[in-house]
Amino acid sequence: MPTLAPEKKSTRSGRPAPELIFGDLWEFDPAPETANPKLKSRYDLFINGEFVAPKSGKYFDTINPANESKLAEIALGGAADVDAAYQAAQRAFNTTWGRMPGRERAKYLYRIARLLQDRAREFAVAETMDGGKPIKEARDFDVPMTAAHFFYHAGWADKLDYVAPGRRVAPLGVVGQVIPWNFPLLMCAWKLAPALAMGNCVVLKPAETTSITALKLAEIFQDAGLPPGVVNFVTGAGATGAAVMNHPIPAKIAFTGSTEVGKIILRSLAGTEKKMTLELGGKAANIVFDDAPIDQAVEGIVNGIFFNQGHVCCAGSRLLVHEPVADQVIAKLKQRIKVLRVGDPLDKNTDIGAINSQEQLAKITALVAIGVKEGAELFQPACRLPARGYYFRPTIFSGVSMSHRIAREEIFGPVLSILTFRTVDEAVEKANNTAYGLSAGVWTDKGSRILKMSTELKAGVVWANTYNKFDPTSPFGGYKESGFGREGGRQGLLDYCQLA
Ligand code: NAI
Ligand code: MG
Repeated sequence: MPTLAPEKKSTRSGRPAPELIFGDLWEFDPAPETANPKLKSRYDLFINGEFVAPKSGKYFDTINPANESKLAEIALGGAADVDAAYQAAQRAFNTTWGRMPGRERAKYLYRIARLLQDRAREFAVAETMDGGKPIKEARDFDVPMTAAHFFYHAGWADKLDYVAPGRRVAPLGVVGQVIPWNFPLLMCAWKLAPALAMGNCVVLKPAETTSITALKLAEIFQDAGLPPGVVNFVTGAGATGAAVMNHPIPAKIAFTGSTEVGKIILRSLAGTEKKMTLELGGKAANIVFDDAPIDQAVEGIVNGIFFNQGHVCCAGSRLLVHEPVADQVIAKLKQRIKVLRVGDPLDKNTDIGAINSQEQLAKITALVAIGVKEGAELFQPACRLPARGYYFRPTIFSGVSMSHRIAREEIFGPVLSILTFRTVDEAVEKANNTAYGLSAGVWTDKGSRILKMSTELKAGVVWANTYNKFDPTSPFGGYKESGFGREGGRQGLLDYCQLA
């Protein structure tokens, strides 16, 4: 039988139908969000309620990874700036914030959440331009979740007697925090909101590639009338982060980032009295049984690993699929990723935006090359990538075994490694056979199996028939080399107080 050329459909407007490219993906017209994030050309440090120049006078560039253009200059904070920030935080703790009744602190937190909602679009655009994530995620996830964290913790601030029933809670004092570049604004909220609700004052260092939204949040703190010194932002790279972690003032430090840096911090603070919480890497297993709702599972797998370009510590980067359905699931996955839109993060239709930095792109590229060399079978859709900027195609590897590096190392990119299993015990054994233990996913029709798996999986979060769901009320955190301590919920607050 002769094969027919694909039929050209007519559109209601009478324009020629869009061209069908690469077999499956219909091109949409560009739908870019207006780029008006009200950026300053230069961002100073935020210390004692004011924007101040770094003592060294040095600045570094922050770029838009979608097109490599410079967005702004960011102050390079040094040890003297970190010290000034800690002195301001200590003063604020002693004179205002630490003495204020919780119900008064709550008012500031509510105000911050509302002011952020007022400027939601501006923040979403700034987050997308500075970090590369798709606008639909920044708009529908990062910014609303950030506001939700401030609202939730505002609700706790006047109910702290119920955080540890029967015990009295008190703030720790000043805390030092360092955060990564994958959720720059949301990580500010995860770190700041519980600390502030409890009555602590903070020095926080954003990641060097994504400082802008933290400094915009500082503008909101000014507008909310937050007392000077309650929150201080010192920008810079690793050396600045080390100065924040190692200063004598903080009673507690909190870090989110790589396991490698987490270990450095743990070593440098060994023997001190400081409390510590570390939220580090992950290599989560998303486990699909043969009785799972397969189409939903495929959506969950895609959301689990391609959300935010896979720049997610709890990403479902390993798929463990039950042998009877493996071929079916893999075929559907391939079909699904062919229609993911990779490209301009500001376009409202984009599913996969830009990789955060050239270094991260190089790391992903190198690990994928290793996967190919080690004999795993690679599949990538033939999507076009923009000529400038840092992009990586959604990638799946099948035929992966536990000895492959792509099955063990955190890639932190849009790369899925697929393994198969035959029995429940084998699934548990493979899922737990990792140095990490942050999260996992289970897809099955059987409630009893969900309960068994969630008990036996060594992971801080186990999602059932869903993936990457977050809520300020649920605690999040890891086991093993994924770190310790919890963020969110009542458990998260406990990590920011002392009990009497
Ligand atoms: P990183 O751990 O170096 O960066 C995270 C934060 O720590 C940044 O603010 C950085 O400036 C700061 N930092 C760096 N060195 C420090 C030090 N010695 N003391 C204190 N703070 C320090 O992570 P990087 O290099 O950006 O990414 C490398 C890999 O780490 C990624 O490929 C990914 O696998 C993993 N990662 C995991 C994250 C998570 O959420 N668990 C977040 C970011 C990266
Ligand atoms: Mg940037």
